[in-house]
Amino acid sequence: MYSPTFARRMGSLQSSAIRDLLTLTARPDVVSLAGGLPDPEIIPRERIRKEAELALADPASVQYGETTGLRRLRDVLAAREGARIGRPLEAEDVVVTHGSQQALSLLAQVLLDPGDLVIVEEPAYTGALQVFWAAEADVRSVPLDADGMDTAALQGLLEGGLRPTVVHTVSNFHNPRGVVLAPARREHLASLADRYGFWVIEDDPYGELFFDGPPPVPVAALSDRVIRLSSASKILAPALRVGWLHGDRRVCEAVELLKQGADLCGSSLTHQIAAGLLSDEPWLDLHLEMLRTRYRSRARALEDCVTSTFGDRAAVPSVAGGMFCWTEFTEPGFDTEALLQVAVKHGVAFVPGSAFGINAAHRSALRLCFATCSEDVLADAAARLGAAYADHTQS
Ligand SMILES: Cc1ncc(COP(=O)(O)O)c(C=O)c1O
Repeated sequence: MYSPTFARRMGSLQSSAIRDLLTLTARPDVVSLAGGLPDPEIIPRERIRKEAELALADPASVQYGETTGLRRLRDVLAAREGARIGRPLEAEDVVVTHGSQQALSLLAQVLLDPGDLVIVEEPAYTGALQVFWAAEADVRSVPLDADGMDTAALQGLLEGGLRPTVVHTVSNFHNPRGVVLAPARREHLASLADRYGFWVIEDDPYGELFFDGPPPVPVAALSDRVIRLSSASKILAPALRVGWLHGDRRVCEAVELLKQGADLCGSSLTHQIAAGLLSDEPWLDLHLEMLRTRYRSRARALEDCVTSTFGDRAAVPSVAGGMFCWTEFTEPGFDTEALLQVAVKHGVAFVPGSAFGINAAHRSALRLCFATCSEDVLADAAARLGAAYADHTQS
């Protein structure tokens, strides 16, 4: 039996013990608050079906398309993103990708050589870590608090001589922490990018899912050194695999070159569907309002249940949007990886904080997704978590 040799970059991408444990959560008896999954019951399947029928009447919908994405979709996205950043964008400024994950992956290939420095937030979005590790980047972190990335800490690293090529931020309703980057820190991050000449990847799939009002102006509005990513996954359907990036046109052109080799083009069919849905503003406004109302109610229900289950043994900061709550157990040395083993036996799953760590272990924290299940199921999940906690702390 020969053992295959793989490229060096594969060494940093071994499957983690947590990921292996999380495969157990696919069991039907387990209520999983682990994945960042929109509720399939409120994904607009009927409206998608109608748009698919319309699209299929056009032979172009089953043909290869442009590498950068269907022109009509890029026009819609340029108008929507331009309104968010407060300056007009053209279709040429936008590249449609296979989810925003592909945008991250192509950007890493465009911008990073092995050994280049990337700074992420601590805790960080695991999908970004995978991409940067696969690019063989030197990945370091700066802390995150209730106001998002600690840009003063970033400034300290820069003044200490670190020269990142890329700084990655999830500016709105952070995955996994749920926090929003404060306006003053957005300005600060943008000014640091201008002064030190690094790229900011502003990764924003959750910005439309706000509960109390829209988030502050995107970092992309404040500096030309920002490449902004967003996605239809959390507001329409992940299965469309429609994400996008916009920013410096030379970066867009480089992404296009690489994308030719990666997949030739995206799906003309789902691009047409997404263009139809995103350009129907009256429908989209109502749909987004429904999502915000439902997710707000679910977030509050989960926060209340977790607070009443654990009292002062856990801190659950209230979130203002997105899909995630971050819970920190207060008992010194508490280990949520060990809790997960017991929780799965009690039929509930979450992602332990350690999955999101670079320098810090976050062992006493966990991430819960409130978006996938109804309030009743969330209450049941919190009760199961309470039983697992009691079992775990007694043993
Ligand atoms: C911060 C962040 N960025 C990017 C993605 C990728 O999403 P998609 O590829 O479905 O657009 C996710 C998915 O959960 C995410 O949380």
